[in-house]
Amino acid sequence: MKTFYLTTPIYYVNALPHIGHIFTTTAADTLARYLRMAEREVYFITGTDEHGQNIERAARAEGIAPIELADRVVAKYSELRGRLEFSYDDFIRTTEKRHERSVQEIVRRIEAAGDLYTARHEGWYCSPCETFYTEKELGPGKTCPVHGTAVEWKSEENVFFRLSKYQQPLLALYAKHPEFVRPETRRNEMRSFVEAGLRDLSVSRANLEWGIPFPGYPGQTVYVWLDALTNYISALGFGSEDLSLYHKFWEGSGVRLHLIGKDILRFHAVYWPAFLMSAGLPLPTTVWAHGWWNRDGRKISKSIGNIVQPDELIDRFGSDNVRYFFMREMVFGQDASFSDEAFVDRYNSDLANDLGNTVSRVVTLARRAFGGKTPPVSCDDNPLITVARQAAEDYRKAMEDFAFSRALESLWRLLAEANQYLVAHEPWKLIKSEGPTEKLSRVLWNGLEAVRIVATGLLPFMPKIAPRVLAAVGTAAPPTSLEAMAWGGTPNGVELPEAVPLFPRIDKEAYLAEGKKEERMETAVAEKTPVSIDQFFETELKVGTITAAEPVPKSNKLLKLAVDLGESSPRQLVAGIALAYKPEELVGQQVVVVANLQPAKLMGVESQGMVLAASLDGKPVLLHPDAPVPNGTRVK
Ligand code: MSP
Repeated sequence: MKTFYLTTPIYYVNALPHIGHIFTTTAADTLARYLRMAEREVYFITGTDEHGQNIERAARAEGIAPIELADRVVAKYSELRGRLEFSYDDFIRTTEKRHERSVQEIVRRIEAAGDLYTARHEGWYCSPCETFYTEKELGPGKTCPVHGTAVEWKSEENVFFRLSKYQQPLLALYAKHPEFVRPETRRNEMRSFVEAGLRDLSVSRANLEWGIPFPGYPGQTVYVWLDALTNYISALGFGSEDLSLYHKFWEGSGVRLHLIGKDILRFHAVYWPAFLMSAGLPLPTTVWAHGWWNRDGRKISKSIGNIVQPDELIDRFGSDNVRYFFMREMVFGQDASFSDEAFVDRYNSDLANDLGNTVSRVVTLARRAFGGKTPPVSCDDNPLITVARQAAEDYRKAMEDFAFSRALESLWRLLAEANQYLVAHEPWKLIKSEGPTEKLSRVLWNGLEAVRIVATGLLPFMPKIAPRVLAAVGTAAPPTSLEAMAWGGTPNGVELPEAVPLFPRIDKEAYLAEGKKEERMETAVAEKTPVSIDQFFETELKVGTITAAEPVPKSNKLLKLAVDLGESSPRQLVAGIALAYKPEELVGQQVVVVANLQPAKLMGVESQGMVLAASLDGKPVLLHPDAPVPNGTRVK
């Protein structure tokens, strides 16, 4: 059996997990479950990255030891594992002895290859990234290009790795194994990065206690990224006596896949293979970088402060529905936007409507017609069979390509065809006009069978609910192999339990209003502290005329406006008013604008201010002056 080694990044422990972290593990888990059903021998690991300055600082800020902080975060990951049904085989922590031994072993091999030397290291350092940046790479005001936070100047004696020596071998690797970095756009990025030239890399830190001592260099600690990346082989026993897993999954001919977010691609696609080449060890077969979950146009991240807590989401929607949303809404490889509204829409349309209604419709009719049992006669010749075969094939192809949303689309195509088939054959009329005939049996059996195939394909995505859907349509024991997606599996004449609503519809208006009520309560608390008149005047409100308006691509809420504020050129603003106003009715109107707001990007479009509107049950109502005034007039 072909082996498949699958890893997630190991997560930092300076903060509790947010949905970005949970997403990668969900994707890996979905893939692992699929691969097991495809009869591959899977070894799936995840874990935590516990060393380094960030963690030391975060712990110090709370007055606790770094390991206490790590233990707390690890406990949370373990709780989420239970809640989200993660099926990983091992959880590796970089503070474990087995990992320390493995890191020391890889360092010794790199040293033996002659790839280490000491030198002074100076530069701009971003502690959240644990990375040095060149002056050119920094953002405005000496800030980190990723986090936007201030960087610090660091200068110390370090151990260096001869990364420059691996420029040609890395380029040769990308050329010979195009599957090494995926998707393709990311490979091109990495190739350009390496082609631009590689500087040797500092792989130790001085004066850092919270880390693994650097063998042979007293006073130096192993750089967190060399430490962290090595987890992928530590988890297999590298550096220990028992190398059986290591031989099987790292040295064998199978797949070794690192699933990561695009933020950490350079470490995985440049540094990691270079370390491994130097140590004379096999390389991963593929590094797959997915995109980011954004909220309000920015990456969901603790440093940006727009995180969504997984617990909150699971409590509100249920863990399988959260898993489904993640895998359906993001085109794997691209960025995706997270919002409550998108969540409710996706749930209602795909799960409550398409899947839930089909299940309850066929189950109710079949029970009524055939005395609470599945229909007695199957159907072996009808157009749905071809559709089902195609859907199963497309599904497999998509899953092998990690195109999770496309795999789900194939299943939903079958569901749509099954619905059309039912509408065309009107079993609800047949029951009344002809009773439980063979024809009715075939029609309803087809409906159940299509749902069974869809639910089988859903098993890797929804490990709790898919078995319940299967039970609802007459398959009590969930299958363990993808073979079960072949047409013909629904048994005849077996008990059909009474249909229970598996996906109750969410009342979107009420749900979103509830969220707003919570927001209002929060603002009410904030309102208790009055602002002084000086504080109020710090906000510059001005009247301007809208000179152009157009929708922001891919957004149903946002409009891009040009507003003349009496300045040398109109301001570009992005406003969330598209559901309430048509672009053409806005041009020529005067509005009130917050003119000194820090610019922000919404869906990739820059907004240089904010248009004021009253919010009536979530609907924006624009504010206008009572009579026309010159553009740029101050409001006070
Ligand atoms: N500890 C390093 C990784 C070392 S791997 C040898 C690290 N940890 S992290 O806690 O910051 O987690 C990074 C990973 O979390 C990302 O690569 C990505 O997989 C996931 N995500 C964190 N925020 C995310 C989004 N907003 N969207 C999608 N995934 C993101 O980096």
